[in-house]
Amino acid sequence: MKILVIGSTGTIGAAIYNNLKTDYDYVYGAHRNSKSCPVDITKKESIQALLDKLPQLDIIINTAGIAVWKPFSNLTEEDYLVGIQSKLMGQVNLVHVAQKYVNDNASILLTTGILGEHYEPNTVGSSLINGAIHSFVNSASNELPRGIRLNAVAPGAIAGAFPEDKKFAGYFPVKIEDVVGVYRQILNNSGTGGVYKIY
Ligand SMILES: NC(=O)c1ccc[n+]([C@@H]2O[C@H](COP(=O)([O-])OP(=O)(O)OC[C@H]3O[C@@H](n4cnc5c(N)ncnc54)[C@H](OP(=O)(O)O)[C@@H]3O)[C@@H](O)[C@H]2O)c1
Repeated sequence: MKILVIGSTGTIGAAIYNNLKTDYDYVYGAHRNSKSCPVDITKKESIQALLDKLPQLDIIINTAGIAVWKPFSNLTEEDYLVGIQSKLMGQVNLVHVAQKYVNDNASILLTTGILGEHYEPNTVGSSLINGAIHSFVNSASNELPRGIRLNAVAPGAIAGAFPEDKKFAGYFPVKIEDVVGVYRQILNNSGTGGVYKIY
């Protein structure tokens, strides 16, 4: 089993990468500043260059992507475009490119978050992206070839990175081990088109 984790130095990506490394021989970690596997998901050619150099993969997990946080009244069109180019089109382009590279029955996992469904001040730009990806996964999963599966994980705020006794978007933070467990659960089932919420 050959696995790629994009965003492998981040709060969520590093936890997934380190967890999978203990059980699988071929786990590749990629991010913009990586020496061995550099990738910028905002650039289709960069995704393509990474997949050209790796062996054919069975699993791709993406945890990379940003969006601007500001009060709604201050959000500019440029602010929206940051999230659209990074977290939204970065993940959409990843699926477009990856479907041509991965093995039959491979699994592609994207990352969204609680803001796709619940309100928190200053996060309209992020909510927009998460909701769009949920719709994308629901729809695009029907058209992927060769049994390729597409799902998303929507975590709540991660405990540790966020105070454990404070609610975020109406929910207490979630333990990173539990979030990693959800990604792993999806690797081992045959579902596609799902949004796996953990909050
Ligand atoms: N942390 C939370 O509490 C939380 C909760 C719910 C959902 N989420 C979502 O989960 C995702 C990951 O969050 P996180 O907190 O783990 O992020 P993070 O700690 O900021 O880490 C982001 C990772 O992605 C890489 N990266 C950033 N932009 C990239 C790009 N354009 N191309 C390739 N790699 C890129 C970074 O490395 P380089 O800088 O080297 O590229 C880093 O490895 C985000 O979509 C976030 O909205 C986070």
